[in-house]
This record gives sequence, C-alpha cells and structure tokens, in this order.
Amino acid sequence: MAQDAVESLDVAGGSNLGGDPFTPAAGSALWRKHFLIGAATASYQIEGAVNEDGRLPSIWDTFSATPGKVLHGDTGEHACDHYHRWESDVELLASLNFEAYRLSIAWPRVMDEAGRPNRKGLDFYKRLLGKLKDKGLQTFATLYHWDLPQHLEDRGGWLNRDIVYRFADYADLMSRELAGHVDAWMTLNEPWCSAFLGYGNGHHAPGRANLRYAVQAMHHLLLAHGEALAVLRENDPASKKGIVANVGRGTANTQSAADTHAAHLFEVQHNAWILDPLLKGTYPADLWTLWPGAEPLVLDGDMQTIGAPLDFLGINYYFRTNVESDGANGYIEVPLAGVERTQMGWEVYPDGLRDLLTGFHRNYRALPPIYITENGMASDDKVDNGHVDDAQRIAFLKRHLAAVDEAIAQGVDVRGYFVWSLLDNFEWAYGYERRFGVVHVDYRTQQRTVKRSAQLISKFLQERAARA
Ligand code: FCB
Repeated sequence: MAQDAVESLDVAGGSNLGGDPFTPAAGSALWRKHFLIGAATASYQIEGAVNEDGRLPSIWDTFSATPGKVLHGDTGEHACDHYHRWESDVELLASLNFEAYRLSIAWPRVMDEAGRPNRKGLDFYKRLLGKLKDKGLQTFATLYHWDLPQHLEDRGGWLNRDIVYRFADYADLMSRELAGHVDAWMTLNEPWCSAFLGYGNGHHAPGRANLRYAVQAMHHLLLAHGEALAVLRENDPASKKGIVANVGRGTANTQSAADTHAAHLFEVQHNAWILDPLLKGTYPADLWTLWPGAEPLVLDGDMQTIGAPLDFLGINYYFRTNVESDGANGYIEVPLAGVERTQMGWEVYPDGLRDLLTGFHRNYRALPPIYITENGMASDDKVDNGHVDDAQRIAFLKRHLAAVDEAIAQGVDVRGYFVWSLLDNFEWAYGYERRFGVVHVDYRTQQRTVKRSAQLISKFLQERAARA
C-alpha cells in the first residue's frame, strides 16, 4: 500500500503540485547540500508489535492502558505497524529524497530483565539501519525516547540512581552491536519531558507528580547521558554523539521588569535547567528561586560527567509561551488572542526558534554544532481523493526553515533539520487524534498517503541535489 503512494508521487513538480509555496529563497543556506534535511520518528510512536519477539512492557504500555491517561484510551499497541512495515517505510523515506532519518531504539526490545541482549530485537534495528544506509540515508539514533522498560520503573525508574548504570549498560550493548550502522547517536530525547511531565506533573508516563521527583529524575537523566556518552565514545569512535533538548521561547506579556523576569524564569525552567549542566557544568541558580529548596542530590564528580563535551546538540522547537509575573517568584502563562495556532493549540512562532538559537550562541561558549532534531506541527489532515493538502504545515515548515536560515546568517552553526514527523503517529497523551506526519496514516488500513508538504520537501531536495 505504501508502495502505491510512493509510485504515484510526482516529485518532479508536475501539475498536482500547483505553485510552490515551500521552496526556500535563493541564497538561503538551506540550498547548500551539506545542510542535512531529514525526518524523525520514535519507537513507541510508530512501531506497534508491543508483545512480539521478546519485547518487554514499557512505562508507556502501562500508562496508556490506564484509564484517563491518554485521549480516547489510545495505546501504542499497533501504532503505524512500522515493526512489520519498516521496509516499505524506508522505501518511502528514500523516495521522498530525505537525506537522513532520526529514529529511536526501544530499550525494552533489545535487553531482557537481566540485561542480556535480545537478539530478535537487535536484529530488527540492524536490518532497519542497514537498509537505511543501503539507501544512502544518514542514520541518527536516539537511545531513549521515553519507552523505559517497566521493570526498571518498578525499581524506582529515573528516581533510583542505579538506573544511570543500567542506561550505561544499554548504551554499551547498543554501541557494540550497532557500531558502523549509526552516523549520530543521541543519548536522550527531551529530558525535560521525561523529568517534568513524567515525574513532576504526571501528564506522561510513569505519571508521578512531585516537583522534588522531577528535579532528582532530571539529575539522573543527565548523569545517565554523561555516563552513556563516555561508553559511546569508547565503542563507536567514528560516530557523532549528542543529546536532544526541547526548548521553549518565553516572552513577557508587558515590558515591566517583573514580567521580563518572569519570561527569563520560564526559559530557565525549560532550557537552562538542561543546557546549563550540559554546557556549563552547573544548574542555573535562578532555578532554585523559582523552586526554593528543590535542589537534587548531587554527588562529587556528577557535574563533570554531565558537562562532558558534545559533538552536537539536538534542538527540538515547537512554540512560544507568553507569560507574566505571578506576583511572587514565578510566572504564569497568558495566552495571546488572535495568533495562529496548530491542532495542538500551540502558537505558530518561527521567530522563537531564531531567537533561541542566537541566544544560545551568545550565552554558551561551549555550544557545539546544532541539529534541529524536531520541528513540525499537528493538523487535522484528511485524505481527499488520494491527496492531503496540508497548507498550514507547508507554511509552517517554510517559515521555521527561514528562521533557521536567519540564525545561520547570524553566526549559529546549525547543520541540519529534521521534520517531526515522517508519519502521523501516537502522539503520547493525545493519542492518534493529533497528526504530525508529512505522510498521512490511515490507522484502519495502515495505508500511507504522502501529504503535499512531503511532496514539496521532496521536490526541493531533488532540485537541490541536481544543482550540487
Ligand atoms: C516532542 C516529542 C516527540 C513528539 C513531538 C510532537 O516533545 O519528542 O516525540 O511527540 O513532541
């Protein structure tokens, strides 16, 4: 089925494309061939096959099976059935001219409870990565995109310092098994979400809600990253290694000093909480004025491990948050009226991406090269006569790529951009209702339909390759 969609794709820019509202401006850095353009996914969101070939339960299996946690009671049980359709999905990626693919490895598929390798799970990723390389795609692999084995959560999950060493063992196994298959490793995806949504407010698995938990979980996540980084360097010296942080732009509702400080605190909580330890080796002091007394337990040497140099930093950006002072030490959100929003309710605000990138460039002397490892939007896309015209997404992607281009022009070393996502998929607490793909998925038939956004990206990449 996916093949039909691929074969009917007119990447040469035929009449079904009409005018082209996507192609970047002439002179844009995006026309340079070495600026990598890819698509991203994550294991739990697309694979399905949760009980196959020795895969163990993950915290997202447990969480999504708990009534009231995920919209409409959706789970990742079948998702996009990518575990069985990976070959045609790779064909699809390649036919769309993407140059790189960011995927994640499901920890519960590749190790048993005793930490022994699960061959069947490992073989799946070997075949998948092998085929991606055969097709000429660069492979970006995330070790942890939120699907923690449930047995580790049962022993305290990210609250138990022992998990740091379990994660390092996992990184050791993966980098010994998959060295040569992976161009770029990412230890963690969005530790902010794992710590704050998973342990701080309970909106994500494992659904625990205590600020002190969030802060300690973050410390263990970052430490696990640092330990894993050393292991990856040892086992797979030829690859690039990094981590992925989601970052948020906070803007002040008025120009008052109090609101300006509130916007600063928003960015401390969302960005500096993660980036300062990684790039400066310390937690930001302002975090503890926002959350007095919530400091994590830090042992000697931890901050050095966390602050080890990175080959690259992955940045995920989606929207901005407008805030004002809460009258005390914090901020409260003040949603703006009359702005463009996506199906998630998130404001479309490309300037935020440029401003964050240029701000990081100014503030962090140790800032490594950056890849935008996720950016994209959800819309309520419908297939009409075999076509999906996702006009809002096309404009969104074009404007965010232009914002990246502006940041590059201002001196930020951005090396590539991955659209979130290749496929419509399981959007965590929002289930299947929110469609982020550049390829539409009919969850009843698993039919893939290339959206117009993907056709235009593909056409641009073909033109770019032809010029190189
Ligand atoms: C990010 C996640 C990704 C996806 C997008 C929309 O926070 O990394 O898995 O759900 O949001």
